[in-house]
Amino acid sequence: MQNTTPRENHPHSVTMSVKEKERYIENFQFPYCDESTKYEKVAKIGQGTFGEVFKARDKSNAKKFVALKKVLMDNEKEGFPITALREIRILQLLKHENVVNLIEICRTKATQNNRYRSTFYLVFDFCEHDLAGLLSNVNVKFSLGEIKKVMQQLLNGLYYIHSNKILHRDMKAANVLITKNGVLKLADFGLARAFSANKNGIPNRFTNRVVTLWYRPPELLLGERNYGPPVDLWGAGCIMAEMWTRSPIMQGNSEQQQLTLISQLCGSITPAVWPGVENLDLYKKMELPQQQKRKVKERLKYYLKDPYACDLLDKLLILDPSKRVDSDTALNHDFFWTDPMPCDLGKMLANHTQSMFEYLAPPRRPPQHMRAHHQIPGARPTTSAVQDNGYQDRVF
Ligand SMILES: Nc1ncnc2c1ncn2[C@@H]1O[C@H](COP(=O)(O)OP(=O)(O)OP(=O)(O)O)[C@@H](O)[C@H]1O
Ligand SMILES: [Mg+2]
Repeated sequence: MQNTTPRENHPHSVTMSVKEKERYIENFQFPYCDESTKYEKVAKIGQGTFGEVFKARDKSNAKKFVALKKVLMDNEKEGFPITALREIRILQLLKHENVVNLIEICRTKATQNNRYRSTFYLVFDFCEHDLAGLLSNVNVKFSLGEIKKVMQQLLNGLYYIHSNKILHRDMKAANVLITKNGVLKLADFGLARAFSANKNGIPNRFTNRVVTLWYRPPELLLGERNYGPPVDLWGAGCIMAEMWTRSPIMQGNSEQQQLTLISQLCGSITPAVWPGVENLDLYKKMELPQQQKRKVKERLKYYLKDPYACDLLDKLLILDPSKRVDSDTALNHDFFWTDPMPCDLGKMLANHTQSMFEYLAPPRRPPQHMRAHHQIPGARPTTSAVQDNGYQDRVF
């Protein structure tokens, strides 16, 4: 077997044996991409579709914790995955109090053991909880003022990303992080993309296979490809309701069933309430329940109680995306400007010294008054506990 490149073909290149190449890669100091050994993993806190997430300690600063999100390299023949590059580019652009902060990208050393393939990690500031984890713990009780603070920060984050022409496209409670001080951060930009208003009247043709089913807005379920920020506001509405119901309000198990659940809550999907809906690709292909009355306020007032809350939720869950409230208008809603005013979460969270993440929480049941048939989410694994600087991480 020949290991060397024939010198005469590349007069200026240095001939290297495979061994030499490997040693060269092993010893190369990549600028701007430190080795992940500067962090020490302490617990696994997430298992997403695209890889694992770990809590880790910064070895140079014992008080500093980060979240390491592994870049999944499986089936990658073309090098670094384009989806991860997109997520990184978007995170590098977005810098805001209510958006998770990407610190850097790290790598493991390429060695013989990993067949000279590095693992890459996205390194984030660590947040102690995610909203799905908090909502699944019955001991975590949000006051009305605290719920207002959560929604205000969430809408602030959306206002910021939409102003920067980014769609999140995966709004759900597990992708909303909350620090122990009560600061909310939108996270998981793995499905996010840039958007712009239709140029020269040519409609966008984005994929509509985005957003977790339970949080997916009706326009995507009906095949719309020329969509925009309202897709994220539908998700914000689902999350808002969940602040009271404590579990997702529409847990469909197919796209068809999700549309049925939406129609049962928000009323029949018709051209009368949503002009132009009849032109969407799947409008005629899906079975859309007729004669359904809109019952958002009626069914949710049992949970929400506050009339301003019901009114804002009603506006976030508007079927027609062009009529759905935008984040700016939502932030000006009386909900945020009447007593009790939005109130800091830090004090309430100080009562809880255990990190809460969806991955570590028991499965949540659908809320009683919202329950439809066949809606039991899959069981999650049981957990054990380890202690660490006052915060406990439940790990396997
Ligand atoms: N900065 C962070 N601090 C604390 N926890 C985090 C952080 N980033 C992510 N997590 C946790 O890890 C989970 C998965 O992370 P993320 O949503 O970014 O990955 P994902 O692979 O895209 O997940 P999924 O496919 O399930 O949406 C989050 O739901 C959250 O619980
Ligand atoms: Mg996620």
